[in-house]
Amino acid sequence: MMDAHTPAPVRLGDAAPDFTARTTRGAVRLSDYRGRWLVFFSHPADFTPVCTTEFVGLARMAQAFADMDCALLGLSVDSLFSHLAWMRAIHDRFEVKIDFPIIEDPTLEVAKAFGMVAHDATDASTVRTTMVIDPDGVVRATTTYPAEVGRSIPEIIRTVRALQRVHGGGVLAPADWEPGADLLREPSQTLEDIVAGEDPSDWFYQPVPDAA
Ligand code: BEZ
Repeated sequence: MMDAHTPAPVRLGDAAPDFTARTTRGAVRLSDYRGRWLVFFSHPADFTPVCTTEFVGLARMAQAFADMDCALLGLSVDSLFSHLAWMRAIHDRFEVKIDFPIIEDPTLEVAKAFGMVAHDATDASTVRTTMVIDPDGVVRATTTYPAEVGRSIPEIIRTVRALQRVHGGGVLAPADWEPGADLLREPSQTLEDIVAGEDPSDWFYQPVPDAA
């Protein structure tokens, strides 16, 4: 567990603070995910309709996450036994097994450290925060959705794929990018390059084939 002095919530580009927590798959330490990509997400509460659809959607796309060598880690304030009972109910109703760990966070210690609690929250529930953490433990993407709107699982997968492709630097992923589509070269910062382009817009807009 973390210090009593919880730091400011993590932001894009920060090192994700380490923690250990009890989960549906035993104790988990965040730093054990080093070397892999990780989608770490919170949901407001167990046994709720929108959260159920998100979990079913994630479980059905488990192979896509495995193909990206990307682990999944969920969190809510509910207890481990509540998580387990909900997983059983999902299994029975939808015939899907939730294999990834779900953290119990009754004290909100982890959720607060990661900014997963709304600033105007009047109860102990978390919002729908999604963080993509790179193999070095750095937060590379975050989104926050309200309780009333479920996340797009294909968009989470697309974001991880795009982050993986741009990770080495030099290229950028354009809007709606999918693997195989052109990427964009990082704009040049030298006057020589800027005047050398055939088209006046070449220096800031130059598609490059996806080499992967
Ligand atoms: C839901 O997942 O359906 C939900 C969660 C919290 C509040 C309202 C809806």
